[in-house]
Amino acid sequence: MKAKSKMWSGRFNSAMAKSMTELSFSLDVDKELLEEDIQGSLAHGKGLLEAGVISKIEYVKIADALQSILSSVKKGKKLWNAQDEDIHMAVERVLTKRIGSLGKKIHTGRSRNDQVATDFKLYMRHKTVDILDMLSKLQKTVYELAQKHAGRLMPGYTHLQQAQPIQFSHYLMSIFFALERDRKRLSNFLSLHNECPLGSGAIAGSAFSYNRKAVAADLGFANISANSIDAVSHRDMALEFLSDLAIIGSTLSRYAEDMVIWSSSEFGFLTLHDKFSSGSSMMPQKKNPDSMELIRGKSGRLIGNFTAMFTLVKGTPLTYSRDLQEDKLPVFDSTKTILVCLQVFKEALETAKWNFENMEKRMLPALLATDLADLLVKKGVAFRDAHHIVGNLVGIAAKQGVNFTELPDEHWKGVPNAKELKKKLTFAYSVSRRNIEGGTGGKALEQQFKKAKAI
Ligand code: ARG
Repeated sequence: MKAKSKMWSGRFNSAMAKSMTELSFSLDVDKELLEEDIQGSLAHGKGLLEAGVISKIEYVKIADALQSILSSVKKGKKLWNAQDEDIHMAVERVLTKRIGSLGKKIHTGRSRNDQVATDFKLYMRHKTVDILDMLSKLQKTVYELAQKHAGRLMPGYTHLQQAQPIQFSHYLMSIFFALERDRKRLSNFLSLHNECPLGSGAIAGSAFSYNRKAVAADLGFANISANSIDAVSHRDMALEFLSDLAIIGSTLSRYAEDMVIWSSSEFGFLTLHDKFSSGSSMMPQKKNPDSMELIRGKSGRLIGNFTAMFTLVKGTPLTYSRDLQEDKLPVFDSTKTILVCLQVFKEALETAKWNFENMEKRMLPALLATDLADLLVKKGVAFRDAHHIVGNLVGIAAKQGVNFTELPDEHWKGVPNAKELKKKLTFAYSVSRRNIEGGTGGKALEQQFKKAKAI
């Protein structure tokens, strides 16, 4: 490569070493920003036109050529070559090849620093809209499943030990409301990171005064950045984006973990569709819940990307340092990862077979221990004493290897009206007692459906 072949090579006497090229060129990664780069240049060009820096004829030529570059790439044309160090340089080179030296005017009053910051912000804003859409679709799926299966009971767990009876739909709606927070987090993110850096130049602000507000509005930003130093150097938008995505990943991962456990033969609550499972290369009998395991695994990757970004930005001196080029890969990777995880999670839930008979079969009478204690309280026993009486029963039953409800009458002596209480104690009864808002009772679940519908 000749020393003068690069756009910035004016002051250089020798070409970049091959090893250095390998280290520094980022086109393979940042070509993902093509659309945002073209949009950014179109808006910047319009700003230059309105400020009288370029003429109408010049603007139209530049804009047409930029659009044609985008459509060429979309058609699969290979426009980039080995000299293009990043997508921004590549677009400018092809632009100049197509319309001559007029193409170079697009970079008037702009640095790659504010250009990259703008493209990157636009990208995250666009992808956030896609992710929000996927989150809503998944919410709709769990809402519809929950409505369909209302009334089905299952054991609810704490410490992975049977705790209290719940409605299966109550569990499903917990996914809905967790996702709702994930959605709100991203909506907050969109309203916070709504400032356009264009006009900031490399560090000090462009010397060509143009209407920054109009350029920002053209790109869909509500505001312009207030300080050029901050605008070109901060990456906390990316940090927050990756953090929000890692949190969504961890939401999915927690539920995926339950699905993995539930699809074991020990539990048997769930059979994933073949489409979302895979077999073993050695053991013919195996059908593994790979979709859920992968979603659980990908959450580690999302957290890794967030950590990579944090490590990257914590010590870079202001304003731009080349380290910051490493900010793209984690963002692109997390975006693709979360979108496919949300899609698979949704389809896997939609196609899964829920084995309600197994859920009911596995419910142990010990799930009703709290309800028995509560019934004793109703008979006037203090809760601590009631807890002790029932705990005693459960302890004896455990020693004898039976359910506490099966213990002979002699052990129930301390319980007033034991016969009547035992009759009352059913899983359905337990659930029906929990109609406090947010609870698992039928009416409480209806309220959740109402809230979900409003959302
Ligand atoms: N490829 C670089 C990046 O994405 C472009 C910015 C280069 N800016 C500079 N001052 N060298 O970070």
